[in-house]
Amino acid sequence: MSRESVEPYLSAEIIAARTAELGREITVAGITDQPLVVVCVLKGSVIFFADVVRHIDMPTNLVFLGVASYGASMETSGAVRLTHDLTLDIAGRDVLIVEDIVDTGLTMNYLLRTLGARKPKSLRVCTLLHKPARMRVEVPLDFTGFTIDDVFVVGYGLDYDERYRNLPYIGAMRFQAD
Ligand code: IMP
Repeated sequence: MSRESVEPYLSAEIIAARTAELGREITVAGITDQPLVVVCVLKGSVIFFADVVRHIDMPTNLVFLGVASYGASMETSGAVRLTHDLTLDIAGRDVLIVEDIVDTGLTMNYLLRTLGARKPKSLRVCTLLHKPARMRVEVPLDFTGFTIDDVFVVGYGLDYDERYRNLPYIGAMRFQAD
């Protein structure tokens, strides 16, 4: 058995400031003739998505994609499946995927292949967090909030076993043996 605790890692204020900057970066980079399709990857990115879209100053269509990966709760198995598909045809559209974290890169690689096959005009990625130490597949990241160490983080949408998503800040999980 082990006891778990959460230590502060990124404060709500730091996240809010960086999220506003990301929204400005996306706005500057994104001149489109049609509304930008912004994809929320459920469930982890829901809180970041809600915050960052309010800093994107251009017409948008907001859509939701559910993904789940099989396997243990702290590590992806790489086998990703769709739990909820987009309700919009993205062919010929400028699309921005909004993710909470890119860890091994396997989930993002799957998303880029799956959505890329639908022939969008452009497909870009915004991730709040990037953990390069654990990258197993290179994925292009257009907008990155924070590059972090190899720690398991929770809060601000991120979970451990479906808990902690509602923490207003990001914390690092610590496990102590009893
Ligand atoms: P991947 O390893 O890049 O495929 O990441 C897959 C998914 O694992 C992410 O979208 C998150 O939902 C989850 N994940 C990866 N690292 C963490 C973490 O530190 N905390 C919480 N969830 C994580």
